[in-house]
Amino acid sequence: MVTKIEELLEKVRSFTPQAEAEIEEFRIRLLGKKGEITALMDEFRSVAPEMKRELGQRLNTLKTAAMERINELKAARSAARASGGGIDDMTRPGTNDQLGSRHPISLVRNEILAIFARLGYTVADGPEIEDDWHVFSALNFPPDHPARDMQDTFFIEKNPDILLRTHTSSIQVRVMETQKPPIRVVCPGRVFRNEAISSRSHCIFHQVEGLYIDENVSFADLKQSIQFFAKEMFGEGAKIRLRPSFFPFTEPSAEVDVSCNLCNGEGCSVCKGTGWLEIMGCGMVDPNVLEASGIDSDRYTGFAFGMGIERIAMLRFGVRDIRLFFENDVRFLRQFASAL
Ligand code: PHE
Repeated sequence: MVTKIEELLEKVRSFTPQAEAEIEEFRIRLLGKKGEITALMDEFRSVAPEMKRELGQRLNTLKTAAMERINELKAARSAARASGGGIDDMTRPGTNDQLGSRHPISLVRNEILAIFARLGYTVADGPEIEDDWHVFSALNFPPDHPARDMQDTFFIEKNPDILLRTHTSSIQVRVMETQKPPIRVVCPGRVFRNEAISSRSHCIFHQVEGLYIDENVSFADLKQSIQFFAKEMFGEGAKIRLRPSFFPFTEPSAEVDVSCNLCNGEGCSVCKGTGWLEIMGCGMVDPNVLEASGIDSDRYTGFAFGMGIERIAMLRFGVRDIRLFFENDVRFLRQFASAL
């Protein structure tokens, strides 16, 4: 037994692994359930009492030496890995980097833009920090309109002329000021409203608004374009209906409902039994708006529409709480990795 112990002690001292996996193999070979040192420990129980003291000490030295050597080697390996020093083992499996994916709001935004691109719309961009003119005044909002109220709009305290845009219609004003008809643009972007956060509303959300101005643009063109969009986004069976509404910048104005794709229009909890879901506002651009941006309202007419991307994404993917889009929990986001 003494020779065996000496032999193993020598093995431990001279052990220099070539690959990381060898360290664990070595540990199992010596200290595992069926390991050589473990076997010696078992054997030790039945040695003659007068031998116990000496053998016990030798065995303990061996066991401690083995454990220390193994720990030392493992620590050296992980330190080398942490400092990125050298490739220690070409055969060690690599760490898997998880592939990222687009956020569902980006996916749906891109889809909306792609649908309108097929109708000849180009994309326009504009600032999130805006002035009163582009968000309200040029859009025919009267000075006392409630949307200007502190309740809805985030103003800069020192200068009420500067604010966070409440809709991307401000981009449309910038386009009308700088381009001549025919104009056909879609305006995606982040918008801000001082609203309480709940499952249905959020103080930051995203919109895509559209504007089409040319000679002889009619309400029939508007309806047809939206019908096309609804079918492309929600499927061939999607129906739309228009309800009269009011916006300062369009006349006439309408809200657009799409048939509920969760219950096929039969009525469910999401559409509150009506079979319809509101998806956007629209209307014929008010002549005052055209004139404010220097477009001749006798010659040109146009239509505009605007939708919240979150709302479209919720319908498209059956998401019931808008807050999920802002929490960025990867367990939620990962589900859209191959959605569109
Ligand atoms: N700007 C409106 C909103 O943010 C949407 C809209 C755009 C309505 C264009 C009509 C025409 O609610």
